[in-house]
Amino acid sequence: MSSVIQSGYLKRNDGSHLENVKYDLLFLKEDCLQDIIDLQDLMVKSLPNPELFQPELADFYKEQLIKDKTVIGAVTYEGLIAFGLFRVPGQSGDNMGRDLGINDLNKVVHLELLVLHPYYRGNSMQKLISRTLIDLIIERNYEDICCTVSPKNYYSLNNMISLGFSIRKIKIKFEDKLRCIMHKNVLKQPDSTWQEVVDVDGKNIAIQERLVKDGFEGFALKGTEGNFVISYGKRTS
Ligand SMILES: CC(C)(COP(=O)(O)OP(=O)(O)OC[C@H]1O[C@@H](n2cnc3c(N)ncnc32)[C@H](O)[C@@H]1OP(=O)(O)O)[C@@H](O)C(=O)NCCC(=O)NCCS
Repeated sequence: MSSVIQSGYLKRNDGSHLENVKYDLLFLKEDCLQDIIDLQDLMVKSLPNPELFQPELADFYKEQLIKDKTVIGAVTYEGLIAFGLFRVPGQSGDNMGRDLGINDLNKVVHLELLVLHPYYRGNSMQKLISRTLIDLIIERNYEDICCTVSPKNYYSLNNMISLGFSIRKIKIKFEDKLRCIMHKNVLKQPDSTWQEVVDVDGKNIAIQERLVKDGFEGFALKGTEGNFVISYGKRTS
């Protein structure tokens, strides 16, 4: 591990005890591989529904960790508690720019995986790590950021929409998992205006699939985990 990006305090809640603990946000290197795998395993075991998250294999992480400043993580007294990363897919077949009809695939970056220790939920870590990665992506002059989120993953959909991502497509990814492809163009104004807006029950996937096929984007979310509504519209600017 190296280069502290920022430090601060997080609330840690193990269910019986709440405390404030110091964290450092760092760029992660190859020596963090086992910590990454262990944290991913722990988080996967905590999920009520395995469909929500697509774990990666050690080889994927090994390849990412040798790339300069693409994986960042948060560390507390108990070790690595969160990480996220971006990947430049270039001309590879899985470049999500292909799904979205983006012309210049070399300007596309994927925000991949956000893994968080369950005791540290509720600290906006997904937004903190994603914002830091987005700043690094902008510094490197990429323009289109894509990520995948399960349409059932309320927390992640909510966080990515609040970071300015919109749902552009819904399709099967990773062989058998239904995913929203979310997209943010960093050159576009953050305050887009929308027309033909319709609110759709988050559970109604069929209507959402139809809307994105007709050029609508999911741009706002209201409600709670069990009962949420996504606003779809056509971008006017
Ligand atoms: C996505 C995720 C990292 C977001 O966590 P986060 O950054 O802590 O989210 P927030 O700080 O916005 O949390 C807001 C509230 O939702 C709660 N919350 C967040 N994720 C939750 C979850 N998976 N289950 C239950 N409650 C959750 C938080 O405790 C917090 O509650 P509070 O306001 O009462 O304190 C987290 O939900 C998670 O680990 N999900 C599984 C992995 C995943 O989906 N990764 C992203 C796709 S690759």
